Amino acid sequence: MERIKTGIYGLDQLIEGGVRDNTAIVIAGSSGTGKTTFAIQFLMHGVENGEQGLYVSMEESPEQIMKEAEQMGWDMKSHYEKSIFFIHLKGKNFKKMIEEQLPQLVKARSDYDIRTRVVIDPMTPVIWATEDKLQQRELIGKLFYTLKELGVVMATVEEHSKPGELIGADVLLPIYLADGVIGLDYYPIGGAFNRTLKIIKMRGTHHGEGLYPYIFVRGIGVVVRTSPGDTTVKGEPNKDFNAIFDEAIKTAEFIKAPAYVVAKLKNMKASWSYEYSPEEALQVIFDSYGLK
Ligand SMILES: Nc1ncnc2c1ncn2[C@@H]1O[C@H](COP(=O)(O)OP(=O)(O)OP(=O)(O)O)[C@@H](O)[C@H]1O
Ligand SMILES: [Mg+2]
Repeated sequence: MERIKTGIYGLDQLIEGGVRDNTAIVIAGSSGTGKTTFAIQFLMHGVENGEQGLYVSMEESPEQIMKEAEQMGWDMKSHYEKSIFFIHLKGKNFKKMIEEQLPQLVKARSDYDIRTRVVIDPMTPVIWATEDKLQQRELIGKLFYTLKELGVVMATVEEHSKPGELIGADVLLPIYLADGVIGLDYYPIGGAFNRTLKIIKMRGTHHGEGLYPYIFVRGIGVVVRTSPGDTTVKGEPNKDFNAIFDEAIKTAEFIKAPAYVVAKLKNMKASWSYEYSPEEALQVIFDSYGLK
């Protein structure tokens, strides 16, 4: 079965190489865990490989989103209305939009041959649009059903689980209706890895079952450590990181990695702000591209 790489370094290795086409994946996490970062990285991975991206936003305007992306090191602007398109639902009637306008839009693209990735970030306002659980279920179901026609859909939901709860009550519906769910957690304590990911479900996929720490790297996005377990960092501190980056860049060039991969590594070298060695993150990134 064909797998579509999410482009989130390390994650694809945990889910048999990627997600299945025409599925909806939910990213659940509280504020600041990185949901938008995951969503943009997923979208940009497609765009960098000749696909198109559709960004469905609620509160934020396209301009705000692209500005935020720029601060994280992504250039969405130069793809704007060429390969990245926005639907801004602020102030719109969700029900009408989801039941009438979206299906029309998807239909209009149906003879289009370019693969499209869809992001709904955040999906929470759709859930809150109505108190009625049945109507919520219908709206979310319809939203997924319609957009999955285009390709893989990644929807983010804000989660506020209580301590000890695996999943917050407010996100149960999208979690039931999605084909895959990834939960993000953030522990506001010091240390190198204080953000972890868990794969709550991934239909038709053998997936990793641990808690996987991840970090942010400007221009690269999220890098997930593919082995679960303790949160101590491998690799020696106080080594010369520049030398490590230079070696990685040299290796990438030597094995003729695509230019954009080399460019990413150079960006990473310039923006690495952690006190610990980038070796492990570099390894995950190399692995993502099938490089050794
Ligand atoms: N490339 C990066 N480099 C460093 N830090 C980053 C990077 N990308 C994201 N972050 C940090 O992660 C935080 C959360 O990112 P993001 O906006 O993706 O979270 P979110 O879950 O979408 O939050 P919200 O629920 O508020 O929308 C940011 O505030 C920022 O501090
Ligand atoms: Mg966000």
